[in-house]
Amino acid sequence: ELGPYSHFMQKEIHEQPKAIADTLEALVDAGFQMHLFGHKAGEILPHVRGVKILACGTSYYAGLTARYWIEAMSGLPCDVEIASEYRYRAACADPEHLVVTISQSGETLDTMEALKYARELGHRWALSICNVRESAIPRASDLVFFTRAGAEIGVASTKAFTTQLVALFALSVLLGKQRGRIGAADEARLIDELRHLPGSIQHALNLEPQIKAWSERFAAKNDALFLGRGLHYPIALEGALKLKEISYIHAEAYPAGELKHGPLALVDEKMPVVVIAPNDSLLEKVKSNMQEVAARGGELFVFADLDSHFEESDGVHVIRTPRHVGVLSPIVHAIPVQLLAYHVALARGTDVDKPRNLAKSVTVE
Ligand code: M6R
Repeated sequence: ELGPYSHFMQKEIHEQPKAIADTLEALVDAGFQMHLFGHKAGEILPHVRGVKILACGTSYYAGLTARYWIEAMSGLPCDVEIASEYRYRAACADPEHLVVTISQSGETLDTMEALKYARELGHRWALSICNVRESAIPRASDLVFFTRAGAEIGVASTKAFTTQLVALFALSVLLGKQRGRIGAADEARLIDELRHLPGSIQHALNLEPQIKAWSERFAAKNDALFLGRGLHYPIALEGALKLKEISYIHAEAYPAGELKHGPLALVDEKMPVVVIAPNDSLLEKVKSNMQEVAARGGELFVFADLDSHFEESDGVHVIRTPRHVGVLSPIVHAIPVQLLAYHVALARGTDVDKPRNLAKSVTVE
């Protein structure tokens, strides 16, 4: 079942070009059509006045990424909430804000209960993005998009995450089209970019030997800090979660602009700092944040792309993906952080597929 791979997590990381191509199949053939989200989408989506995303763990980070796309492409307000917090908060509901739950398993209790609570508060419509067809959350939703990642066995979410991002990207484009912000030419360009996505993911996977070489440096560490900004801040969060989940190294993620407001105090020569720094509109800001780290003796491990210009030096190590892929860049940059966590865990000899204390599907509170 594992083929040439040592663990399900490694296999699932490498399945991502196919999982994404499969998830994209309907999209790329027909363009961004409403029926992709279910037969009631045509009745519901035109009336949506905002989006509320509810999810847990890695699925929550997919939601955080989507907020940037949804607000930029559709102009609709979007908030993203940790399901286990939302369900116990006296929240304010706007009935015309679409509830979007994201869940690989479709069975996460907190997400399911948050969905029920949102309905009780008056939200009219619910859309589920899910990877498992016969599951509870899609059954309780009006609209559904099934990702086609295939079975995910490793406890750490990998291919489920990147296919969720593809689905959320499609939703963002659709909402943008609906609101007249994305025209035919933009749509054609976005479809073209999506067509190239599995190839770009493969290029990122090809960086594995370089990432493995870094992993030995992390194996002896007790802590790590992950930084990103804008669209790449959720990828920093995901990188930190992957690392703590499977290697048991304490890791934290911050939006790089927050460094001076506290976490910079942690930085010294013992602290590895992973930075997600592709050539987006915030790169210059990220570079000055990196200088703040370097000035305190912190060692920087930077995931960048060919277009992000900065110098490698003693304390600054850089691995580059071959090209910048615009707004799809967070999907590509999910790969190196997954590979880093995987190889650090291998070096530390932990149980990669079944990390201690964790279950694949969290059906209890
Ligand atoms: O099945 P779900 O997407 O609802 O699961 C949510 C989280 O439990 C899950 O993403 C968890 O954080 C993963 N183990 C992360 O790798």
